[in-house]
Amino acid sequence: MSGAIDDATSPSALSDKSAKIFVAGHRGLVGSAIVRKLQALGFTNLVLRGHAELDLTRQNDVESFFTVEKPQFVILAAAKVGGIHANNTYPADFIAVNLQIQTNVIDASYRFGVKKLLFLGSSCIYPKFAPQPIPESALLTGPLEPTNEWYAIAKIAGIKMCQAYRIQYNWDAISGMPTNLYGPHDNFHPENSHVLPALMRRFHEAKVKGAKEVVVWGSGSPLREFLHVDDLADGVVFLMENYGGLEHVNVGSGKEVTIKELAELVKEVVGFEGELVWDSSKPDGTPRKLMDSSKLAGLGWTPKISLKDGLVDTYKWYLENVKQ
Ligand SMILES: NC(=O)c1ccc[n+]([C@@H]2O[C@H](COP(=O)([O-])OP(=O)(O)OC[C@H]3O[C@@H](n4cnc5c(N)ncnc54)[C@H](OP(=O)(O)O)[C@@H]3O)[C@@H](O)[C@H]2O)c1
Repeated sequence: MSGAIDDATSPSALSDKSAKIFVAGHRGLVGSAIVRKLQALGFTNLVLRGHAELDLTRQNDVESFFTVEKPQFVILAAAKVGGIHANNTYPADFIAVNLQIQTNVIDASYRFGVKKLLFLGSSCIYPKFAPQPIPESALLTGPLEPTNEWYAIAKIAGIKMCQAYRIQYNWDAISGMPTNLYGPHDNFHPENSHVLPALMRRFHEAKVKGAKEVVVWGSGSPLREFLHVDDLADGVVFLMENYGGLEHVNVGSGKEVTIKELAELVKEVVGFEGELVWDSSKPDGTPRKLMDSSKLAGLGWTPKISLKDGLVDTYKWYLENVKQ
């Protein structure tokens, strides 16, 4: 690919602070961080609609919204997300709702004159046995992890839709694939949350109760990558300003920690003084999952928030916002 279809420098970069930007999913972990970032940068004309005001699965409502509001830029951070249990229980919802949201928003954005759109996916788009660290080129090279394939297939379709509209219409749609995220507005649900917020909640509750120990499943040896959501938001704005290529772009921290290192750091940040006990009779997940973010680094972007600082910030938000 060459020329405008796969041009690494975007012709429609965000430069005007009064540009009208629709951030879809602005109440979520990712969308709320993108709104904070854009506001901090001085953008004054954000268009925001909660799920209750605008259900993005409804094509007519989405088209009416675009007819009236005519946004110039769109960042698509609305999605139906969930863990393994939710994916297994509601496979139809995970594939249908996500396909509907992204098809409606991407197509309406093109047809109603949006200059540039960024679609957010996730690292689950990659094959279960992709090489580590996972490069963008690993997409569609092998079978997916079966536990979240419904969600992953929808996200892959979103990437392909952006590519197809770029090829057919020369329209500036790009995709970013974040690694595991954490930060303010994360989900701290006791049974239904990712490893980092789950550990934070458990250590906090153990501290409050004066418990002597916290038992964590597995050996603690799997390696994982985490990115603070404010770094992701910074990366998203960077891509909106600087990237106009056909291929999706990984957005990771490039730093791996073992689950054991993570748990010890969370314990320290929370201030739990009891013992951390590993139950190695319980299963570990995949031994290693790291994205290769060298493409984004090559474009000139790197994350800024250390895991320790990010955890301190997240715990502060947890204390102020999650019902104790
Ligand atoms: N969290 C992560 O670690 C992570 C990692 C990689 C990629 N991502 C990607 O980032 C994107 C956002 O994820 P997130 O973690 O921010 O999820 P989230 O916190 O659940 O936020 C998703 C947002 O989408 C909205 N939404 C869902 N269905 C909608 C509908 N039909 N109409 C309008 N709005 C709807 C939700 O509103 P309601 O809550 O009101 O339904 C919510 O505000 C996803 O594409 C996800 O794949 C996330």
